[in-house]
Amino acid sequence: MKISSAEFVMSNSDVAKCPKDKLPEYAFIGRSNVGKSSLINMLTDRKSLAKTSGKPGKTQLINHFIINKNWFLVDLPGYGYAKVSKSAKRVFQKFITAYFSKRTQLVSAFVLVDCRHEPQKIDLEFMQWLGENQIPFSIIFTKADKLTKTKLPIQIDVYIKEMLNYWEEMPNYFITSSSSGLGKDDVLNYINEINQQLKNS
Ligand code: GTP
Ligand code: MG
Repeated sequence: MKISSAEFVMSNSDVAKCPKDKLPEYAFIGRSNVGKSSLINMLTDRKSLAKTSGKPGKTQLINHFIINKNWFLVDLPGYGYAKVSKSAKRVFQKFITAYFSKRTQLVSAFVLVDCRHEPQKIDLEFMQWLGENQIPFSIIFTKADKLTKTKLPIQIDVYIKEMLNYWEEMPNYFITSSSSGLGKDDVLNYINEINQQLKNS
């Protein structure tokens, strides 16, 4: 899919104030610093559409970007920064859970995980929460450029094996790098296919 336009629409912390348009929407979520904002810039070929930082906690609000004037990409704050999930109690920033449970335009979430790490408790808990709330999601492995060509598939296999302890099947997943552009077409084609299906339904 060609991105002909990508524009920032608004930021806010209240899901009720998000854009009223009934356009398909895709949200990026994951731990702070995993590369959510960078991936939005990579996918849209815009250097600083979404604000990024080497320090965790850069994105603090729900940010809507309208793409090709007919669907939204949403950049969210990381969930491991302001409040860390406590062992039994699952605590994510309130407006993040409010966004996911109330935003009817949301078609699918993308849960971003750093490809160098094994599944982290907070990510597993968040995916479980999405599952319980019947919110479709895919996993996006980020920062693939940080691993060698040999190490990358090994690490992904480790992740999948671990996931299969909790899930019957590995959720749909993508391997990406915002530095090299790896995975760009895969993610955009996936979104495009869903958008087409929605149009025809
Ligand atoms: P918060 O907004 O704090 O939740 O973080 P975020 O998930 O939006 O991360 P952000 O995109 O701001 O990136 C965090 C840091 O990781 C920045 O220094 C980025 O340059 C770096 N980074 C992001 N993606 C990649 C990648 O694919 N490869 C490499 N090498 N660095 C990356
Ligand atoms: Mg961010």
